[in-house]
Amino acid sequence: MGEASAQLPLAGILPLTAAVVADGHLSIAGCDTVALAREFGTPLYVFDEETLRHQCREFQAQFRSRHPDTTVSYAGKAYLGRALAALLAEEGMNLEVVSGGELAIARSVDFPPERISFHGNNKSESELREALSYGVGRVVVDNLHELSLLARLAQEAGRRQAIWLRLSPDIDPHTHHHTTTGVLDSKFGFPISTGQAEEAVAQALALPSLELVGLHAHLGSPIFEVEPFQRTIDTLMAFAARMNQMGAAQRYGLRLRELSPGGGFAVQYLEDVPAPAVAEYAEAIVGALRQAERAYGLPSPRLVVEPGRAVVSRACVALYSVGASKDIPGVRKYVAVDGGMSDNIRPALYGARYSALVANKLGPSTHSASSGQAGSGQVGEGERVTIAGKFCESGDVLLRDAYLPRLEAGDLLAVAMAGAYALPMSSNYNASLRPAIVMVKDGSARLIRRRETYEDLMRCDVWPPSQ
Ligand SMILES: Cc1ncc(COP(=O)(O)O)c(C=O)c1O
Repeated sequence: MGEASAQLPLAGILPLTAAVVADGHLSIAGCDTVALAREFGTPLYVFDEETLRHQCREFQAQFRSRHPDTTVSYAGKAYLGRALAALLAEEGMNLEVVSGGELAIARSVDFPPERISFHGNNKSESELREALSYGVGRVVVDNLHELSLLARLAQEAGRRQAIWLRLSPDIDPHTHHHTTTGVLDSKFGFPISTGQAEEAVAQALALPSLELVGLHAHLGSPIFEVEPFQRTIDTLMAFAARMNQMGAAQRYGLRLRELSPGGGFAVQYLEDVPAPAVAEYAEAIVGALRQAERAYGLPSPRLVVEPGRAVVSRACVALYSVGASKDIPGVRKYVAVDGGMSDNIRPALYGARYSALVANKLGPSTHSASSGQAGSGQVGEGERVTIAGKFCESGDVLLRDAYLPRLEAGDLLAVAMAGAYALPMSSNYNASLRPAIVMVKDGSARLIRRRETYEDLMRCDVWPPSQ
């Protein structure tokens, strides 16, 4: 494992293979980022294969060493492409998809269907048919409409489909309200406190084409505390115990075989905002599971965790070329780059903060910056700037109040922790072209998504209009 070199700023949040090479350039997996930018253009998203594989193995090792019957299911919504799907399959990961599109990507690389689970709060009939025909392992049923629809489709297909129920445990994970999903007022899942979860269990167990094997909850993302996960485990296990009882009034006899507290494991975007290590999450979750098994007298279920962000974030750096600057004396200096909200809308959408460095100006007087705070080694010729995108929205800002070496047109800005929820939420706003993506390993770069072209922009635009 190549560790990032000590003098490298942001070393703890760059890919594991990041280093400073000759001329003070940032390199990843032995590839000079300045050369990558020259060859593939910018904006460019660079994924480090070694970091991706390391993160998969870290989740598997930390959870399985404490609870051997753990499945790690990558949440494809964080980022999914065919190269990544193939790598995940090789690493023995499961995959969580939320749309026919994500399923199609998985299918195109023959991702083992039994290792796929299908989530989502409004799966369409055609998506459910696709899931059934590919033979996905689990469908995570979110509401009664889906329950009866899936039961009918499974029956028509002559299948008995294994399902989980997604429950809403009413636990606040203290994250941005846009990314909070497990509270009562949420569009996702069956609330436990209202009795709707119980009704779902009763109905599911009565449907012969469905086999209820597990319960699931996902609280939101990113969750910087371990306690909400522990409460989720306890709440789901308590519910499972209640649904298992064969009392006079309740005759469910639910046998809980699988249990998932979802994903949402936090990552460190900023130098001074650390996230718990995977081991800490594993210790807390497995500890809560053991306690709940004892408290409720339930046998140990298979544990399924669904990390998305924590698998891909650190593996990726986004490279941008610096262009125009605008200095408003006494107010703010804007420095614009050639991407922005079309390739990464997270800062504009919910104030996400990132850290960056100047990939062609590393060395003894190096600076790095996190939005809203001073970067390490900030002295001398550094300056405070706001990194703006190139799109027609004032909110198109990637980093606010960043301390970086004085930037000039042509410099290369590297944004760290760029692997999750940037590319999947990218758009063609202002008729921009989605960026290229490369995967780097052992000194060579493979293009895994080419940059879009003007032809791509117009591919679905029918002209002249069809009659
Ligand atoms: C059901 C479910 N599982 C897992 C995740 C992954 O979250 P994260 O990428 O923060 O780990 C999400 C994200 O929204 C989700 O909805």
